[in-house]
Amino acid sequence: MSGNANSNSLQMLAGHVDQDRLWQRHLDMASIGATPLGGVHRLPFSKEDAESRRLFLSWATARGFGTEMDDFGNIFVRREGTEKDLEPVVSGSHSDTQPNGGRFDGIYGVLAAFEALEAIDDAGIPTRRPIEAVIWTAEEADAQFGVGCLGSQAYANPSKLPRLLEIRNNLNIPVKQALAELMEDHLCVGHRAFQSPIAYYVEAHIEQGPELEARGKTIGIVTAIQGHRSFKVQVTGEAGHAGNTPERLRKDALVAAMQIFSELRKVFHDPNDVVRFTVGEMDVVPSAMAVIPGSVTFTIDFRHPDPETLQSLGDRIAVVTRENAGKCDVTVSELRHSSPVVFKGPVPEAILKAVESLDYSYMALPSGAGHDARYIAELAPAGMIFIPCWRGISHNEAESAKLVDMVAGTRVLARTLVELANL
Ligand code: GLV
Ligand code: MN
Ligand code: MN
Repeated sequence: MSGNANSNSLQMLAGHVDQDRLWQRHLDMASIGATPLGGVHRLPFSKEDAESRRLFLSWATARGFGTEMDDFGNIFVRREGTEKDLEPVVSGSHSDTQPNGGRFDGIYGVLAAFEALEAIDDAGIPTRRPIEAVIWTAEEADAQFGVGCLGSQAYANPSKLPRLLEIRNNLNIPVKQALAELMEDHLCVGHRAFQSPIAYYVEAHIEQGPELEARGKTIGIVTAIQGHRSFKVQVTGEAGHAGNTPERLRKDALVAAMQIFSELRKVFHDPNDVVRFTVGEMDVVPSAMAVIPGSVTFTIDFRHPDPETLQSLGDRIAVVTRENAGKCDVTVSELRHSSPVVFKGPVPEAILKAVESLDYSYMALPSGAGHDARYIAELAPAGMIFIPCWRGISHNEAESAKLVDMVAGTRVLARTLVELANL
């Protein structure tokens, strides 16, 4: 077979994207860690995470695709190209979720990539390069470990590995141990080395924001991912009796934390509504009605598309925190600092060509959320395809996407992958 998909077989490709198969696979995945309110709780490294990955591998093996895993548990499923030595085109996302997360964040990108591989195979389209569907390990690790996208970071830049493996979760378990347990019974045929070259990377994802739905567009061609810094603030006061301790003698850590929070909210207020500032986690110790809080730990998630603002506004956090701590002691540690990334060149160009040939409505837009594509872009030309999701809601059990849009995104992805695999 030649490595050039002719225009006839490319026309047929969209029809080979099987909406029932795609939907059934989503239902199968959504049943692993299903929550009573219709979401998914499949934390990174959990037994549910392991089960979703084993299911993915079982589908790949049944289909006769090759499988490989690297030392961070990233799983690659491969449809061979006609020129085996060429670097692969890779597409995928993550199968873990936030606590009480949704049924589409991450897994849609994995299943769209797998469906694209099957559709390309069913259509009998040869490609010069191999095409792979990937699950990146522990994308949603922020909630327990304070840092996300662990697997894609390790793959793209293994010099980070010693540091990543030592990060501990809130139960003091290091990534190293959680990872060993996760990978225990995964049966992959081949071993993949970190930084094995990738020709092009494409990630499909629900938008997780309101733009596509509000503008009635089916496809988003992602132009960039905004920068992201996150911090842990530790406020230490003194626990004491709620009845006996007069105000003048108190060192109430929660009062200080509230003061810091409210000053930070003023500093981060942006009349243009571009700044994203979130305190999503707060731990009050000892958290008892009759005890003055002795210590409070909270996190700050700050995002901005402009690198200078990301730097200067992010640097204000330590200053404002110190200035508003009152009689308490404070420490601020930075957990993550990811600069913005811009997608340009062959991947967005191939996505645009695919969207136009399939005649879907589309718009270009930046991503507010972080994605594995942000790190793989350090290794290979990369890009992303967004589809709308209901009211832009995500990291929420109510997250929802329409099957018609999921199919559209998968058709665009399949066509994009064929295009890139023949470059
Ligand atoms: C990804 O889940 C993010 O929080 O951006
Ligand atoms: Mn997410
Ligand atoms: Mn995601």
